[in-house]
Amino acid sequence: MVYEVYLRSFADGNGDGLGDVPGLRSRLPYLADLGVDALWVTPWYPSPMADGGYDVADHRDVDPRFGTLADVDALVADAHALGVRVVVDLVANHTSAEHPWFRAALAAGPGAPERSRYFFRDGRAGGSAPPNDWISAFGGPAWTRVTGPGGPEQWYLHLFAPEQPDLDWTSPEVADDFDATVRFWLDRGVDGIRVDAAPAMAKVPGLPDAGHPPGASFASSEWVGNPHWDVDEVHEVFRRWRRIGDAYDGDRLFVSEAVVNGPERLARYVRPDELHTTFNFDYLKAPWDAGALRTVVDGTLAALAPVGAPATWVLSSHDETRHVTRFGRERSGAAVMGFDDAPPADLARGLRRARAAALLTLALPGGAYLYQGEELGLPEVEDLPAEALQDPTWERSGHTARGRDGCRVPLPWSGDAPPFGFAPDGVTPWLPQPASWASLTAEAQRADPASTLSLYRAALRLRRELPVEEPLTWLDLGADVLAFDRGPALRCVVNLSARPVPLAGLGRVLLGSGTPGEALAPDTAVWLAPA
Ligand code: NOJ
Repeated sequence: MVYEVYLRSFADGNGDGLGDVPGLRSRLPYLADLGVDALWVTPWYPSPMADGGYDVADHRDVDPRFGTLADVDALVADAHALGVRVVVDLVANHTSAEHPWFRAALAAGPGAPERSRYFFRDGRAGGSAPPNDWISAFGGPAWTRVTGPGGPEQWYLHLFAPEQPDLDWTSPEVADDFDATVRFWLDRGVDGIRVDAAPAMAKVPGLPDAGHPPGASFASSEWVGNPHWDVDEVHEVFRRWRRIGDAYDGDRLFVSEAVVNGPERLARYVRPDELHTTFNFDYLKAPWDAGALRTVVDGTLAALAPVGAPATWVLSSHDETRHVTRFGRERSGAAVMGFDDAPPADLARGLRRARAAALLTLALPGGAYLYQGEELGLPEVEDLPAEALQDPTWERSGHTARGRDGCRVPLPWSGDAPPFGFAPDGVTPWLPQPASWASLTAEAQRADPASTLSLYRAALRLRRELPVEEPLTWLDLGADVLAFDRGPALRCVVNLSARPVPLAGLGRVLLGSGTPGEALAPDTAVWLAPA
């Protein structure tokens, strides 16, 4: 199981209200005790933080707010000593607007070679309109016009925020420099690399219009044949990186963030000479519905089998509404990148389902990714004051979409009041924590055998111990029940119906998300040792 550390919100070691590498290092024993195999740590690079560090100004250093390279080395050494691997986040589709390359490109002016590492183009309509109709993931057009010494001039492309100009991967200099970055981190002993925004890294030459209707929002999971997403040439980059990774000793893992149209397109990212694994967003986006979930599970396994890559399962991340909240809503599928205007949730129902979903996720064949705080059953914080919001989505959407800050609120570790051990007492965390999180701290849950933390610890321990087998074999317990065996050692039953499901004859209870007796209550799951 890989645990996602959203660094800004995990643990603050230096008392500035922002999570950092020393803070993370100090909490490694918690992660080892939880049963984590590896960490994926979100960007720690020097950054103006226009997008929480996904706007990188130097890919081969650490932002002083997060620590130093020596802190990273110490983190990796300590993690390895505890049997935990470390995966770094590589943001290669774009840089920060403060990256020396982009500054040089702006200073050099139209037509200069410094501009060829990015996409600078003349505007249409005599220069006043963007070069094409492409849109930004955070809302609005994907182009911003440069104002030079002589007034407005060319436009540059940014599929994310204007502070994140897209790199042109047809530039040999760009590709060579990222080879050096990949080697830099692998040389330091990290075990893997998460590839940010993987499908964005190639564009159709000539940058033709995509045909987006006016006011369209980013819908990459629906796009087919889009000139700025999932373009075939993107796979050349991954083949290149795989060749680099394969030259290192040990198991070095590449995992991509690729939100694309369906499992067949996704499987292309994990062909034998490309990346090893990829996040499964179809699973994350699925509603709490047995048919929909089974379709995703079957579709994923069927699409990945021919390329021989393991599946991954993920319920939440720093980009999506936390699934306790999602599953408490009538419309329980995930929305895109914080464009989430769904009505309020029934959080008790959401937590019941989230606990059941944990047992489902951890029983499926392949790897599981867990987002920090998921093991504490944290809900989305939906009432952050507007002045606290920092996600660029809030501004870019003209204050119509609140963005992703609600899933990024710093973790509650201990104590009765903010900062709940996230930072030293008296320090204000970068996003406010709800007072109601006092009952959800890791410390409070550690002592309670019925807590969500205890459920995750028990499930992760069993998952390591049980001799599970491939493939998964479905059992038919009714249309609204997901039931399957992983060989003779593990049977998983998830009740998504409104009625109790009798358990008689199905096996001995190993672990339940509720309190399974003779029947399995709605919205709960159980692991059984088949009779
Ligand atoms: C995906 C990251 O997970 C997200 O947080 C970021 O905003 C975009 N990529 C752009 O880098």
